[in-house]
Amino acid sequence: MLQGLTGQCALITGATRGIGRAIAERLAQAGASLGIVGTDLQRCTAVAAEISKAYQVEAIPFACDVAQTAQAEQTLEAMLEAYGKIDILVNNAGITRDSLLIRLDEQDWDAVINTNLKGVYNFCKPAARAMMKAKYGRIINISSVVALCGNAGQCNYAAAKAGIIGFSKSLARELAARNICVNVIAPGFINTDMTEALPEQIKEKLKDSIPAKRIGKPEEIAETVAFLCAQNSAYITGQIISVDGGMNMA
Ligand code: NAI
Repeated sequence: MLQGLTGQCALITGATRGIGRAIAERLAQAGASLGIVGTDLQRCTAVAAEISKAYQVEAIPFACDVAQTAQAEQTLEAMLEAYGKIDILVNNAGITRDSLLIRLDEQDWDAVINTNLKGVYNFCKPAARAMMKAKYGRIINISSVVALCGNAGQCNYAAAKAGIIGFSKSLARELAARNICVNVIAPGFINTDMTEALPEQIKEKLKDSIPAKRIGKPEEIAETVAFLCAQNSAYITGQIISVDGGMNMA
């Protein structure tokens, strides 16, 4: 078991289920203390308690809508108050509001951009300030294969996820000399509640189009996050790491 993150503090958004929860568990397994961010306080509290008990680490629940700048700033402040620092920030929270462009409502455009892209800005800004002071940090932003390939019916989602890539490369350049790494993971098709909602027929078709011929597991994304958080990964920054069974080979 990797114990390399003992003494480090990690904030993970959208950590109550799916990929975010797997990331939280993996970092806890490595010994990190956690901030569990989600929209529902009860859910966050339950997940934090479960992880804390299972891995013997501290885990603090924070209810926060990542799309709300003031809430994100307050959450970051509360994290700093509790732990005195933030070593790792994982921006994982995300939503879909799929529709072909000609039927895509402005509300669904705004919701996806605000949660998936502005949410990343909202957390990176106050976290970067704290990390710059500490001269250490790891920021990992969860994008998508769709940012690299596009997907019919996901103009809003692909735009937000591609925005994360440009944002992260720029931030990586701003922070590299301060010993802060900023990287992006682009998952392919991963088995979570988000993808569970897709019709069986579409899932089968999608699976067939994946070179690995299987759907990915949340733990496979979590493992990549743990790798990027490791001390030995300090020279990796501004990169997009695809974890997608070969869906995108650029
Ligand atoms: P999910 O829907 O199972 O979980 C998303 C989490 O984000 C939930 O805990 C939810 O409560 C939280 N969340 C949503 N909106 C929020 C907000 N405004 N404020 C705070 N928390 C919020 O999704 P899943 O599948 O675990 O996805 C996690 C990330 O990975 C997302 O950014 C998603 O876009 C990305 N992704 C997922 C893929 C997949 O196949 N499942 C593929 C590529 C990327």
